Amino acid sequence: MFLIPSHQKRPSDDPIFALNQEAVERSNKGESIVNATVGALLSDDGTLAILPTMTKLIAEVPATEWATYAPISGSGPFLKAVMDDLLGTSKPLRAAAVAVATPGGSGALRHAIGNYLERGDALLTTSYFWGPYQTLADEADRRVETFRMFDDQGALDVGALDEKLATLLATQKRVLLFLNDPCQNPTGYSMSKRDWERTREVILRHAATGPITVLLDIAYSEYAAGSGEGGPSAQLLLQEIEPLIGKVALLFAWTASKSFTHYGLRVGALVAVIGDEAERKATENALSYSSRGTWSNCNRGGMYAVMKALTDPTAKAACIAERKSLQELLQRRVDAFNRAAREVGLSYPRYEGGFFVTVFPKGNAQEKAKSMRDQGVYVVPTQGALRVGLCSVAEKDVPRLVASLVE
Ligand SMILES: Cc1ncc(COP(=O)(O)O)c(C=O)c1O
Repeated sequence: MFLIPSHQKRPSDDPIFALNQEAVERSNKGESIVNATVGALLSDDGTLAILPTMTKLIAEVPATEWATYAPISGSGPFLKAVMDDLLGTSKPLRAAAVAVATPGGSGALRHAIGNYLERGDALLTTSYFWGPYQTLADEADRRVETFRMFDDQGALDVGALDEKLATLLATQKRVLLFLNDPCQNPTGYSMSKRDWERTREVILRHAATGPITVLLDIAYSEYAAGSGEGGPSAQLLLQEIEPLIGKVALLFAWTASKSFTHYGLRVGALVAVIGDEAERKATENALSYSSRGTWSNCNRGGMYAVMKALTDPTAKAACIAERKSLQELLQRRVDAFNRAAREVGLSYPRYEGGFFVTVFPKGNAQEKAKSMRDQGVYVVPTQGALRVGLCSVAEKDVPRLVASLVE
């Protein structure tokens, strides 16, 4: 084999895509299939939900914007628009922010792993987590360690986080913590105000011992219950994290994939809030150096379109209105799921909004998923549980989905 030994047994395609493919093939042959494996928001008729204003903005991008190289760290107006949109309501956070463009949130996660952990070190995240965190860590010769996600009351297990922070600081002398919030993939859990307060207290206590970097993976933030411009979720989050400025490195993995329904455009950013000015400059340098050393630069036309969507008053208002109808579409499914699931006593975390929820089956998750497939219902068995993508299931199919989860 010509491949290096450590890469010779890499698994092939993402298993989620394989399941999706099987579901689509059966459906194309005329079977009635409920496919809850897709990681994108579909309309009730099964087609991809797209913000029409984004389609228009993309069509209007000038040819030279597509054709020209982008600056290595990203187009200036795009980066400014992202930081203003994300942090604009908090002066202290915005003042300490720098950003680099990345291909989606995945690129932002990649840069975080490469710049905040040494080779062999482990990032820390919740025991249920999005599978590609492991792939990204493997690819960068880093590892993943987890803390138990839920305590016995079903809240975030901050005690477990506390213990793991102590262990990692003792062994590898630094911590990179990934928190995917709100609407965590795969569980659907959104941290409460109390979860945030307790998490912040624990992080601040440990930050006195060694460098801690907190990465907030906010891929689904626009789909949290009650979100929207300046909505309570975004506001709440910024208030909760302000006291961390200067005490930890605060990173945000920002992406246009879900919020602007353009998954294939590959537009994202890593935003870093760094209290010390000299360190902020060093951070900017390190991040753009990483860009040059990986993908070089990002999709210039895509950044231009997203910048317009964030800054042009008419386009911005249209995107917010169009997104609101998608949020409502998803919310109707979430409500239908909660109604049906509570009635039959399914076991799953508090779920108020977002693309996914995870159901804890009584028996073996793989076997359960297999027997559901026999009934034409596709979910993703993961980490001993079943990930259910309400984002791709029509409201009318939710009762059938829940019935299959119970049987
Ligand atoms: C938890 C989580 N983070 C980040 C991403 C990043 O997606 P993208 O690279 O398309 O922005 C995803 C996409 O599915 C996700 O589920």
